[in-house]
Amino acid sequence: MDFTPDELTALINNAIHLKAKWKQGVSYTPLQNRTLAMIFDKASTRTRVSFEAGMTQLGGHALFLSPTDTQLGRGEPVPDAARVISSMTDVVMIRTFAHDVVETFAEYSSVPVINALTDMYHPCQLLADMMTYQESRGDIKGATVTYVGDGNNMCHSWMNAAIQFDFHLNIACPQGYEPDAALTQQLGERVTVTQDIERAAKDSNLLVTDVWASMGQEEEQALRETAFAGYQINESLMSVADQDAIFMHCLPAHRGEEVSEGVLEGKQSVVWQEAENRLHAQKALLVALVSEGLL
Ligand code: CP
Ligand code: NVA
Repeated sequence: MDFTPDELTALINNAIHLKAKWKQGVSYTPLQNRTLAMIFDKASTRTRVSFEAGMTQLGGHALFLSPTDTQLGRGEPVPDAARVISSMTDVVMIRTFAHDVVETFAEYSSVPVINALTDMYHPCQLLADMMTYQESRGDIKGATVTYVGDGNNMCHSWMNAAIQFDFHLNIACPQGYEPDAALTQQLGERVTVTQDIERAAKDSNLLVTDVWASMGQEEEQALRETAFAGYQINESLMSVADQDAIFMHCLPAHRGEEVSEGVLEGKQSVVWQEAENRLHAQKALLVALVSEGLL
């Protein structure tokens, strides 16, 4: 949300450009001698690999910082860590639980800070998702997207994307698992929140879902399996969507829960392209923040 819609469009176009150049074997290293600090308080496959490989490809270096090895894990205050880490690096990426940790870090940091997932948002995933829609179906402006499942960090970032990229978002979720009320209000007529999964999916251009129990909610798994029963994207639900609809999932996926095996691995699924695009979209983000000094 710190970028304008025009800046986001330029960023996605640059991601597509960087992807093509990388595949042609063209070397592009504007981040030589630059360091990305990567703070992970939660597990990750895609985010870590894409940021780390991305920095390597751009000629820079990525530093993996886990709470078990840094003083942050032993209680050093976030404002202290932010001033120190940002004095030695060029950009910082944080994956953590409470969103205000990222906000506080950014307030005290002298370099740009990237949200690499909090309990509230997952914006880097949406950069890759918007890039993937652009590659698959063109401009998403005016399209209808249906998110099925938990009103969680991914849902909130889809809501932010609906504002920035100008599309309608249907959200189908069980009672008690709705997205943030203030954000829902902010979207106004741009969002429809319903418990009726078929109504939400009807004629939709894109169906997307996420796990029922996010990181940090492992002990709620059984409870959530009951609450979310029926909120699955499967072949039957895809059949009520637009015939050219595509399916996205940020991964990791739980086959047989939020998505059927057939949809995840089926012809309408773009999930592997979507995962790969984390690399290209975040390279464009790093170039924008560090090399071009945007923000
Ligand atoms: N989609 C995503 O962020 O994956 P990781 O948790 O593996 O980084
Ligand atoms: N909602 C999930 C997304 C994982 C990429 C979680 O927070 O665990």
